Amino acid sequence: MPGIVVIGAQWGDEGKGKATDQLADRVDFTVRYSGGNNAGHTLVVNGQKYALHLLPSGILNRNSTPVIGNGVVIDLDVLAEEIDGLGARGVDTAKLLISANAHIIAPYHKTIDKVTERFLGKRKIGTTGRGVGPAYAEKIHRVGIRIQDLLDESILRQKVEAALDQKNQVLVKVYNQRAIDPREVADRLLAHADRIRPMIADVARVLNDALDGGQVVLFEGAQAHHLDVDHGTYPYVTSSNPIAAGACIGSGVGPTRIDRTVGIMKAYTTRVGEGPFPTELHDADGERLRSEGAEFGTTTGRPRRCGWFDALVVEAAVSANALTDVFLTKLDILSGWKQIPVCVGYDVNGKRTNRLPMTQTEFHHATPVYEVMEGWAEDISGCRTFDELPKSCQRYVRRLEELVGTQLSGIGVGPGREQVVMLHDLL
Ligand code: GDP
Ligand code: IMO
Ligand code: MG
Repeated sequence: MPGIVVIGAQWGDEGKGKATDQLADRVDFTVRYSGGNNAGHTLVVNGQKYALHLLPSGILNRNSTPVIGNGVVIDLDVLAEEIDGLGARGVDTAKLLISANAHIIAPYHKTIDKVTERFLGKRKIGTTGRGVGPAYAEKIHRVGIRIQDLLDESILRQKVEAALDQKNQVLVKVYNQRAIDPREVADRLLAHADRIRPMIADVARVLNDALDGGQVVLFEGAQAHHLDVDHGTYPYVTSSNPIAAGACIGSGVGPTRIDRTVGIMKAYTTRVGEGPFPTELHDADGERLRSEGAEFGTTTGRPRRCGWFDALVVEAAVSANALTDVFLTKLDILSGWKQIPVCVGYDVNGKRTNRLPMTQTEFHHATPVYEVMEGWAEDISGCRTFDELPKSCQRYVRRLEELVGTQLSGIGVGPGREQVVMLHDLL
């Protein structure tokens, strides 16, 4: 079982970090392949909480080599902070490898992210403001700055200058901002060079050699299927490809290397930022899910929008990523509800459908059709086998599995590493 991808099957924050951490002691590499520090992956190990933004969740495990692939955009200040923060808590990050081809988020990308959001006003995306979109835009525009540029000061200075030649025009003339000094930016990036240099690697080669040798590589998705720039609820998406196929592009391995694709799905639905969300609850029930589920962003602290489980959303991710497994998280949060609605279809302008609509307009007009399931009162956080779960809880789980259409392999019943019910082994 050499290549396994873990992705979010909804709109992010499904518990990908915890799922990755759980597998990390049995894999040789854990690889982040997309996104940047817009991600926030929380792990709870021996009662200690860790919030990771850029580093793969496998970092907490000595046996696995943590890798940042070419598909990730890296804010060097954040990376240094994260490495130092873990170091202070006794976590060894010395094995970290960073792709020479990964792009850098420079300070001006954050400025652009914030001013464009302000400029969009009511039409804003609700980004995390971390400069992720502008850094990817520059990559595609072919004026980006890469990790390998840290190895050549003169090239790096030229590239920053070239990028800012254009950006300063826009910042000054369109957004009424002060021009940014390329020298200052280059100095700030180069200040990290000595530290980063030993970590820079030909990641594609390292991973392919490892796979050739029968080693196990786990690709940890950030964001989620429905935040994918191509397959998500565009334009309310992130600027990368968090889908399973993104693991190949964002690390340099071929599609035939991927043996298993695991979708993480929360027992209800959440979303941060703007964009359609048919099952969103604007009432006391939504408030209850938010407070009982502690649904506040790991990265920005924003309250997450909350709603019932939407089987159409997850089924679309199962289909487009050929998910071999799903992993259900936060089931414990649903304890105590008498009844739990599950969205099994949409009414779109009077027509019933059980598939996500093709167009954005239809999606905006979709009203959920619910099937109401019986809830359970028991605290399930101590359960470790399926049989220990209350019968109505078992029925809820099995119904979700049936609706999304692929094998359910595990269930999260609490934030701790050990709080899990496994149904099928993932490795
Ligand atoms: P990610 O971005 O997909 O890694 O998810 P986040 O870490 O942003 O959000 C998931 C939150 O739920 C974190 O605070 C986790 O510690 C927590 N969590 C993960 N799985 C479970 C679970 O099964 N039950 C409970 N109660 N919390 C969980
Ligand atoms: P993890 O990995 C939830 C959302 C933002 C915004 C949109 C675009 O923790 O699941 P961006 O800053 O990427 O340009 O913002 O995407 N978003 C996330 N929402 N979880 C995440 O990551 C997210 N990363 C980005 O809220 O709506
Ligand atoms: Mg998160």
